[in-house]
Formats: sequence, C-alpha cells, structure tokens
Amino acid sequence: MLNDPFQYRKGKLSCDDVDLQSVADEYGTPAYVYSKRAIESRFREYTSALDGIKSHVCFAVKANSNLAVLNTLAGMGAWFDIVSGGELFRVLHAGGCAENVVFSGVGKTASEIRFALECGISSFNCESEFEIEIISQIATSMGRSASVAVRVNPDVDAVTHPYISTGLREHKFGVDIDAAEQIYSRASKLPGIDVTGVSCHIGSQLLDIEPMIEAADKTLALVEKLRARGLKIRHLDLGGGLGVSYRPGDTPTAIGALIDQLRPRLQSTDLTLMLEPGRSIVAEAGILLTRVLLIKKNGEKTFVIVDGGMNDLIRPALYQAYHEIVPVLEPSSDPGLTADIVGPVCESGDFFARGRAMPPLEPGALLAIRTAGAYGFVLASNYNTRPRACELMIEGTQVVVARQRESYEDLIRGEQCILD
Ligand code: LLP
Repeated sequence: MLNDPFQYRKGKLSCDDVDLQSVADEYGTPAYVYSKRAIESRFREYTSALDGIKSHVCFAVKANSNLAVLNTLAGMGAWFDIVSGGELFRVLHAGGCAENVVFSGVGKTASEIRFALECGISSFNCESEFEIEIISQIATSMGRSASVAVRVNPDVDAVTHPYISTGLREHKFGVDIDAAEQIYSRASKLPGIDVTGVSCHIGSQLLDIEPMIEAADKTLALVEKLRARGLKIRHLDLGGGLGVSYRPGDTPTAIGALIDQLRPRLQSTDLTLMLEPGRSIVAEAGILLTRVLLIKKNGEKTFVIVDGGMNDLIRPALYQAYHEIVPVLEPSSDPGLTADIVGPVCESGDFFARGRAMPPLEPGALLAIRTAGAYGFVLASNYNTRPRACELMIEGTQVVVARQRESYEDLIRGEQCILD
C-alpha cells in the first residue's frame, strides 16, 4: 500500500513512529496493532476519488468494529454499513449518527428492525419481499416510515474465494435482478415503506473491477426501469468488495480506477452513490503481533509454534487465506527455514502459514502477521478458553489501548455453576 505504516526502522519493524518490539514488551502478545494514519489515508482515498460525485462512503462495520476505528472514521464523516443491532449500538457508541447508517444483511430480527427505526437510520438494504413486509408492519406500528433499497443479485461472477463471492443466483444473498421490478412495485404500495434505492454487493477481495462495473451497469439499467414505473429511486449502493494486497507484489484494486469508470455512468442520473468498503479501508492498516513459543521438528517438518492461534485470526484456517508473516527484528540473512507457522489451539487447522520460507527464528522472537486489520479481531473467539487479544491503535508516537486484553474473569462473565 502507499505509505505502508509497517516498515523497518533501525532494524525493527515499526507501526508509524512506534517500534513493535516495545509494544509487545509493554502490552504483551498476541496483540492487534492498527495504524490510525493508514485508516485515515485509505478512507481519504475514497473521498478524494469521489470528489464531485454525490456519494457516501459507508464503512462496513463487520470488517473491524473496534470503537476506536469507528470513532476515527465517524470523525472523518464516514457513513456506516451495519448487519446487526449490535453493530448499530457500536456505531452510536463510537460517535456515529444513526442518520448515516445503512442496514444490510439477509436476516434481520424484528427487534433489530425496531431498534434501527427508533434510532432513525438512513435506510434498509432488504434481501427478500418477506423482510420488506415485516419492516412495513413494524414501521407502521411505530408511526414511522422506513427508507428501503432492495439488494439485487446481478448474477455476475466476482471471481474470488467461494465463501466470499455473493453475486451469483446460486447464493443466498439478494433477490434475483429479473424479479426485482415486481418486488419494487409491490413494496412501493406497502404502508410505512419509502422505496428510495437499489443496492448490490457481489463479493469481497475483488482484484478486478470488471465484475463491479458489470454489476453497476445492470443495476443502473434497473434504476431506469424503476424510474420509468414512477418510483423515485434516489440512491445506488454498489456494496463493498475492493481487494487488498495479501502477498508481496499483489496489486490491490485501485479505488480511483473504479470511480473513474463509474463517474460517466452516474452523470445525469442524479443518483447518490453509496459504497460499503470494509477490507480496503482497514486490512492493510493492521497486523497481528505474536511471539514464537518454541520451534519443533516432527520428522521432516519444522513447526514454529506461536502464542497467537486460529481463535485470534481464523482467515488462514477458514479460507486458506495467505497472510505475509515477517519478523519484528529485521532479518540479516536470507530465509534459512521452511516451516509451518502454527498456533497452540488443539486443531490441525490452527495454522497461519504452511511450508513458509522464514529467516532463522528462536523462541521469543516476535512475528507480525500482516494485512490483519480486516476480518481479524472481529472473527476472534474464545475457543480453547483463550482470552481474546488486545487491540492497540497507534497514533503517531502514541499507543492507545483500543481494547484491553481479556482476563480470565472476562472469560466466565455471565456463566454460573449449577450445583449447590
Ligand atoms: N457490504 C456487504 C453487504 C457485505 O456483505 C460485505 C462483506 C461488505 C459490504 C464489505 O466487503 P469488503 O469491502 O470488506 O470486501 N470474512 C471474509 C469476508 C466476508 C465479507 C462479507 N461481506 C474474509 O475474511 O475474507
């Protein structure tokens, strides 16, 4: 990424102006470390590329819901894309306004819908006719009106990992674009429903913008048809999905290139463009800092066992995702080791890398697992009764504890024994 916040300075990996060895010594490991500056600069890339286009950049809270992250983005005028009542609660706690929130997701509960309406969110991205009917009933009972966009499935192949591709007919997401006109027409007649937009999201970690352009063309054609039927469609939400660089040398999707292609298409439509980026704002701004516990040989194989595990960062186990892993002390020699980098969790799937060339390592060495700012901590669990890692936000020379490391007490909060 431009201005990579994680660079070697005087032989040690730093996050902006703070060296990560001192961070590990003071705050312990495993620890998530985020660069505030990098988050701000990625958000600004979106807003500058969108200059002159009526638009809102709605950060996808699911990618990283830490209050300090949301607070940073709220301060820069970000809107938010949420998928649960819990995410709305977080956004409000982080200083975000409900009026700048869009509510996506394939299954919203009645209480989440009520909460969102009470708070006065901007709009709902609805994924079924049934959901629109429920929103209509709840909104009417509250004497409110809900702004609604239907998430359509444009049937384009997003060419990404099957678990994070969503835009084909075979996926559970959205409604078939060919059925959308009927659904819109019925929705517009429901009490308490104000049909204001069209939305789509075709997948995540898209390294090619072509599928997004294809989805934009299909949804723009739908907007025209809906407007011809008299519906007042005011916004087009193209979702998130821009890819980032996980491997050295990967070319991440250029935000500017996407917007340059969208700009002429939007001209004269008078639509407000909404985007819902998550990963492309926070992924490269974060690492998971972990310490080598021991190095073990089993037959031909070498295992570097670290104190972070799949419960802290599940992406390699879940998606066979590649994350670059670098030592905090700048290596002075070429790779001397080919090893599996694994955690302490009792699962064979608990690995961060397999057969990875690494410089020589000793117990106690610190490693940074890169590109972990998105879908990292948010997917963490307490599996094996492991306290979740702390999250640290680096602000220039300052380290802010954005979330404390969990204690053993935290692990049993809310539980009880049942024998007298
Ligand atoms: N909008 C909607 C409706 C979404 O479903 C998603 C992501 C986004 C926006 C944000 O997409 P992004 O810009 O972050 O690609 N856990 C997986 C990724 C799951 C993505 C789910 N939806 C991973 O670690 O790769």
